[in-house]
Amino acid sequence: MTIIGIFDSGVGGLSVLRAVRQQLPHEAVLYLADQGHVPYGPRPLAEVRAFSEEITRFLLARGAKLIVVACNTASAAALQHLRQTFPEVPFVGMEPAVKPAAEHTQTGVVGVLATPATFQGALYASVVERFANGVRLIQHTCPGLVAQIEAGQLDTPETRAILENALLPMLEKGIDTVVLGCTHYPFVIPLIQEIVGPQVRVIDPAPAVARQVGRLLETVLDEPVPFEGTGSSRTGALRFYTSGPLEGLAGMLPRLLGEICPVRAVNWVEGQRLKVKG
Ligand code: DGL
Repeated sequence: MTIIGIFDSGVGGLSVLRAVRQQLPHEAVLYLADQGHVPYGPRPLAEVRAFSEEITRFLLARGAKLIVVACNTASAAALQHLRQTFPEVPFVGMEPAVKPAAEHTQTGVVGVLATPATFQGALYASVVERFANGVRLIQHTCPGLVAQIEAGQLDTPETRAILENALLPMLEKGIDTVVLGCTHYPFVIPLIQEIVGPQVRVIDPAPAVARQVGRLLETVLDEPVPFEGTGSSRTGALRFYTSGPLEGLAGMLPRLLGEICPVRAVNWVEGQRLKVKG
C-alpha cells in the first residue's frame, strides 16, 4: 500500500479523489484542501506556486509517495516547478481535456470552462497548440462558480445563472462538447447537462487522471495494484486536512464523496509554513 497525497484549493479535488477511490480503493490517501486561500483562480500564478510547494512538502513529510495536483489552477501555476523541486517524486497534474474534446467534436466547436489562472498558464497554451487541431475553443471563467460549489450550492438559482451565462452563448455558437477545466465543476455536471441538453458531451477528466495514478504506482513506485475482485477487501485509510473551517469540509464529505472521514485543521504560519493545529 502506498500513501497518495492529493491537494486542491478546496473541495474540487474530491472529484478526482472519488475516481481514485473507485479505481484504487486499497490505497491510503492524504487530502489537503487549502480552503484558507480558496479560490485560487483569480490569484497570481506565483502565489499559487508558493502554496503548492509548501502543501507538497507537508504531504511528503506525512508519508505521501505520489502527489496528485487535483487542481487545474495549481497545475498551471506549479506542476513544472514541483517536478523540478522534487525530482524524486512522481506527480500527476490536471490539464484541460482539449485532446479528447477535439477528437470527439463533430461541429468543431468546443466550450472550455476553467479559472482565469488556468487560461493564463503556459500549460493551457501548450495543450491548445498540441491538440486543438483547428477546433474552435470558446473559453469562459464562470466567475463565482467555485465559491458556489464550496458553499454546497450545487443546484440553486444563482449557480444555474452562472452556468447559463457561460453556456447559452456557447450553445448559440454550436458547441457539441464541454471541457471541465476545473476540478470543482464535475459536482455541477447534472446542472450543466440540464442546460446544454443530452446531445452535448461533458468531459470530466477525473477517471483518466485516476488511471494515470494507477499506472505511476505500478511503473514508477513498483506497487502491485490489485485487479478488481482480487487482493484484500480492506479499503485504504483516508485523512483530510483543511486550512479553512473544519465543519465546512467535514459537512461536505458525505455529500461529495459519500464517506465520512476525520478532518484535521492546518494553519498557515506567517503565511508560509503549514502546521497542524492543536
Ligand atoms: N479546483 C481548482 C481548479 O481545478 C481551483 C479553483 C479555484 O480555487 O479557483 O482549477
